[in-house]
Amino acid sequence: MITSYSEQDKISDVIASQPSLLQMICRFGIQLGVGDKTVREVCTAAGVDTTTFIAVANVMKQGGSIAPLYIDKIDMVTMMHHLKSAHEFFLDFQLQHIRRKLLEAIDCSRQNEVAFLILKFYDEYMSEVRKHMEYENQRVFTHVDHLLAGKLDPDFRIRHYCKSHDGMDTKLQELKNIIIKYYTPAEGTSSDLLCNVLFSLYNCEADLRAHCDMEETLFFPAVARLEDQVAATAKDTPVEKEEPAPENLSEREKEIIACIVRGMTNKEVAAQLFISVNTVLTHRKNISRKLGIHSVSGLTIYAIVNQIVKVEEIELQ
Ligand SMILES: [Fe+2]
Ligand SMILES: [Fe+2]
Repeated sequence: MITSYSEQDKISDVIASQPSLLQMICRFGIQLGVGDKTVREVCTAAGVDTTTFIAVANVMKQGGSIAPLYIDKIDMVTMMHHLKSAHEFFLDFQLQHIRRKLLEAIDCSRQNEVAFLILKFYDEYMSEVRKHMEYENQRVFTHVDHLLAGKLDPDFRIRHYCKSHDGMDTKLQELKNIIIKYYTPAEGTSSDLLCNVLFSLYNCEADLRAHCDMEETLFFPAVARLEDQVAATAKDTPVEKEEPAPENLSEREKEIIACIVRGMTNKEVAAQLFISVNTVLTHRKNISRKLGIHSVSGLTIYAIVNQIVKVEEIELQ
């Protein structure tokens, strides 16, 4: 029985010792058909950083308490690729797959209010997960790409994001409880499909929890370390700050515009983007100065014309 994985272990033994690692291996882009090859041989052939692979496998097996051993050793590009693949898996496959099974399992043919509410609950949950993961894809990973290029974004700190990072599993627990407690299948209907959906929800919940733990215990601390390194270097060798041309909006300003035209208050924008209300106000002032637009309706037109938002995302009054 393997207690801690090493580069010399056969990858088939690694999978056999913990089947949940199978998904992790696929997310690293490693194909099956691995024969008797070791972790190192398989990782090298697939162009995957072996240390990062071992770090992720061991954190999955032993929990986040051992993550500090690896924080300064993982390769950020490999780690981000792994996390992005997991996002794709949840958004484009697993959550959609469970929804299809849910539709088959609950009685949507009649005006069954509980079935309708269960589906609505699930859809809201899916859109929350999408928002969370798309934010990480667009904001967090871009931030890390910039750090790797030696640039530090003054508006974003991973420690701040980490504080409000949501495990995304609580709502799934609630959904399972609602189904178990309140949904009664129509008379004469088998409960097999419903039980199968519940098992999938349990697996998905555990998988999401493991994903978030990996981010919180291994990835975010490694990003924080990188931020500190880049900040220290910047102090030693001050670089000229790249100011965007006056008419050009920064990516952050576009994000702010998108939030405003969707009807969010300054406080809601601040919470959504993990910045202070004062920072939102400063951005709004800069946006008005750069564009010469001071009204929300003017910004709305600007945002649609410049494809910052789609017209259907806006509640037209
Ligand atoms: Fe994530
Ligand atoms: Fe996350």
